[in-house]
Amino acid sequence: MPFQVCYLDGDFLPLQEARISPLDRGFLFGDSVYEVLPVFDGRMFRFREHFDRLARSLSEIRIPSPHSHEEWLALLEALIERNGGGTMYVYVQVTRGMEFGRNHTFPAQVRPTVFALASQLPTFTAEQRAQGLSAITVEDFRWGRCDIKTTALLANVLMKQQAADAGAQEAIITRDGEVLEGASTSVFIVRNGVLVTPPNSHRILPGTTRDATLELATGVMPVEIRAIALAELLAADEVWISAATRDIAPITSVDGNPIGSGKPGPLWQKIHAAFEQSRLQLAGTRAL
Ligand SMILES: Cc1ncc(COP(=O)(O)O)c(C=O)c1O
Repeated sequence: MPFQVCYLDGDFLPLQEARISPLDRGFLFGDSVYEVLPVFDGRMFRFREHFDRLARSLSEIRIPSPHSHEEWLALLEALIERNGGGTMYVYVQVTRGMEFGRNHTFPAQVRPTVFALASQLPTFTAEQRAQGLSAITVEDFRWGRCDIKTTALLANVLMKQQAADAGAQEAIITRDGEVLEGASTSVFIVRNGVLVTPPNSHRILPGTTRDATLELATGVMPVEIRAIALAELLAADEVWISAATRDIAPITSVDGNPIGSGKPGPLWQKIHAAFEQSRLQLAGTRAL
């Protein structure tokens, strides 16, 4: 079985043997943050952006950063190598650590728990590639700091399950008639040739793939960063979602209604091809 080696608090060990205490605050309180990065041909994609965001998430919840970027790079390169290299994703989680007791306030002496694993990148079926994905819309019931990449993801889990139960692949989150993001993705619409995505705020996660998409689109098509009304989403020519493990994917149906032609649109084809190209150019080079 591939992807059997994980990292836990200083050691590389078989994933099946990894154990943490039930007193870990990540388990008790969801007091923990994480990152997920794709790896192509052994190279982590947008490593610096992911670890800048991890540093920010840690700082926002006041967990001292356990490693510098260089240390993270070495640790994850070792994990990738021990899992055979090539194409995969890596997951990194840092919890505040464990204490003997259960107190909401931070313990005085505590060492963060660091866990990392490697896994297979999800793939799309041939039908999904040809037809695009479907989404439902859900009203936001998450907390007020969705910009922090915390593992406290119960609301996102429930939304994603609601989508799966409806036969859809993503739940697009709205608040008071405004489109925010997907349960695990950033959201874009195309209207009259213009690419639109909501601005970063406490209501959404600043997506690394969102930034990569905006960089690729700049100069190719007009880009607007502004609020998107739910009605605009439903009337869009194209809807895209983006995430580190899924790059940019077309949504061709929302709440059972076709988007545009009901097929992946021409601007998605163009930006997605540019995305693949930029990834291929980087593959095999060092991440920092
Ligand atoms: C809520 C949410 N929004 C957006 C994203 C996309 O972020 P990224 O492109 O950095 O993976 C994610 C990824 O997990 C997410 O969970």
